[in-house]
Amino acid sequence: MGLFRWLRRGKDKTTTVEMYATTEAGRRHLVGVPYTLPKDDQEISRLDFQHYMLRYTLRGDYAAPIQRPRRILDVGCGTGRWPREMAQIFPDAEVFGIDIADADPKTEPPPPNYHFQIANVFEGLPFPDGSFDFTHARLLSAAVPCARWPQVVSEMMRVTCPGGWIESLEAMPLRDGGPGIAQLNDGMFQMCEARGIDANYGVHVQELFRASGLTNMLSREILIPMGKYGGRIGTMMATDWLAIFTGLRGPVTATTSMSADAYDQALASAREYVNTDRCRCVAPFILCYGQKN
Ligand SMILES: C[S@@+](CC[C@H](N)C(=O)[O-])C[C@H]1O[C@@H](n2cnc3c(N)ncnc32)[C@H](O)[C@@H]1O
Repeated sequence: MGLFRWLRRGKDKTTTVEMYATTEAGRRHLVGVPYTLPKDDQEISRLDFQHYMLRYTLRGDYAAPIQRPRRILDVGCGTGRWPREMAQIFPDAEVFGIDIADADPKTEPPPPNYHFQIANVFEGLPFPDGSFDFTHARLLSAAVPCARWPQVVSEMMRVTCPGGWIESLEAMPLRDGGPGIAQLNDGMFQMCEARGIDANYGVHVQELFRASGLTNMLSREILIPMGKYGGRIGTMMATDWLAIFTGLRGPVTATTSMSADAYDQALASAREYVNTDRCRCVAPFILCYGQKN
């Protein structure tokens, strides 16, 4: 990766600094943070696509039994689709999204009750104790090293009020995806490990929730088919995961012994395999929520 661009946000006193590197394939990544996925227009489209796919598959934006929430927080909100929709679903609530970098394409005006703030969750959430009655985080496993997860959950707990709910949805690596996906998974695991990230960490979030004293907990694994055999959802999931692997090409080939050619061959093999009748690949997700006493 080369061609660095620095972007310092001075106005809001945050210490967060966005620094980007662009791969030779033209993908832009944040540097100086553990987060591995790109930060560019292609990734904005992927995250939006993924948001609509998850909402359709999970039949909604959330699972916790929240009733008339007044203040909602989304940690690592990405393009802001989720908090924007929550602001529309709950027009009487104030909805906040924080992210280390602003990826909201701002193509539509935000709902008046939606507020975005740049913040690095590792520096603490910029809200007083007990500020929210619903605190949500989705798909942070590519962003949070294992050693940081307890702090992230503890911050989510801190800003949630007694009686409020906390919810997490994390993706797990693909299973049974054939040789191409196995190679791509290996590259991803190694690259993540070099950043202190465990791509399988999603299963442990429930343990942190339980250890924090959350009650009325639910934790479940959701298996979504990936590939043509899974019909419309399977094809959408394949589009999403192949885009994820495409986005990880720069970090994986820069950090591991996997060459760019080997990566491209694995990607081509994965692309072919997911369209075969023998593909039975699954994309697991771990959904977990609980209530603060
Ligand atoms: C895979 S995206 C998921 C975005 C969104 N939650 C969604 O479901 O579409 C992960 C997000 O976490 C953000 N992120 C990474 N490290 C972060 C940090 N230390 N503090 C806050 N946000 C962070 C990234 O910028 C990115 O937008």
